[in-house]
Amino acid sequence: MNLRSIYYAISPKSRLLVRKVYYFPADFLNFGNKAKNKLIPNKGDIFIGSGDFAEQGKHLFSLLKEYAFIKPDHAVLDIGCGIGRVAVPLTQYLTKSGRYEGFDVVKKGISWCEKHIAKDFLNFRFQYVSLHNDLYHLTDKKAENFTFPYPDNSFDTVFLFSVFTHMQPLEVENYLNEIYRVLKPNGKCLSTFFLYDDQIENEISNEKRSFCFPFDKENYRLMNEKVPSANIAFKEIYISQMIERSKLKLKSKIYGSWANRGTDTLFDFQDILVFEKTK
Ligand SMILES: C[S@@+](CC[C@H](N)C(=O)[O-])C[C@H]1O[C@@H](n2cnc3c(N)ncnc32)[C@H](O)[C@@H]1O
Repeated sequence: MNLRSIYYAISPKSRLLVRKVYYFPADFLNFGNKAKNKLIPNKGDIFIGSGDFAEQGKHLFSLLKEYAFIKPDHAVLDIGCGIGRVAVPLTQYLTKSGRYEGFDVVKKGISWCEKHIAKDFLNFRFQYVSLHNDLYHLTDKKAENFTFPYPDNSFDTVFLFSVFTHMQPLEVENYLNEIYRVLKPNGKCLSTFFLYDDQIENEISNEKRSFCFPFDKENYRLMNEKVPSANIAFKEIYISQMIERSKLKLKSKIYGSWANRGTDTLFDFQDILVFEKTK
């Protein structure tokens, strides 16, 4: 059993607590610096992954500029906004004529964003939605039936960083349909995935790899069978079919470094897909 599977074996609430306790000494020592940058959460509160919070946020924001053509006056939707990693750089970019909406299934992240971001940036709004995800939040409400709390045609840019990598097929399908509904005509959506095809399936399922998907579910593969949302990789053709059914049009695809594909255009660890709602 490696560290990752031990982490997955405990409940979502306990995972948040373990993190808090583990980073308590570092957060305690850093207490004096907190006043200087209140837009960076304590390490113990960052439940959305490792890496430098501010640097990662800037990197993800740069992907939005380069591939989704986000503009300062856009209405943007951050699905699975976590603890505001991308919202933070957007506070310095979106003008008063732009606006930001984010939602997530983890209340703690939304509360942090409301307190540290929305209070000062009045065109930023965060919503907690209680939906089941066995890595993040346990409840009986299903994401596969969820209607986003926004009217049709409301957003120029929608994005999901590292969210479809934690969602089940029916949930992804519903979200793609909802994204189509809430995007304005010509609006774009950037999302990240772990995608595979026959050529790399052997490589990514090999348990000798530190980052692997050993459990085959036909059109997708799981990293951990007991926590299906821990990490999920999809067959590329399967996702392409879902996209087609949603009526979104695929505009670009940039493979990431996670699967060692050996391409030289690696901008991120995960694979990036950009869709458009064409008129
Ligand atoms: C790896 S984190 C990434 C967070 C954020 N996008 C970022 O890049 O900082 C995945 C996020 O997806 C959220 N999530 C999982 N299932 C979701 C769902 N059905 N709807 C909205 N958010 C969800 C989790 O709570 C978590 O905050």
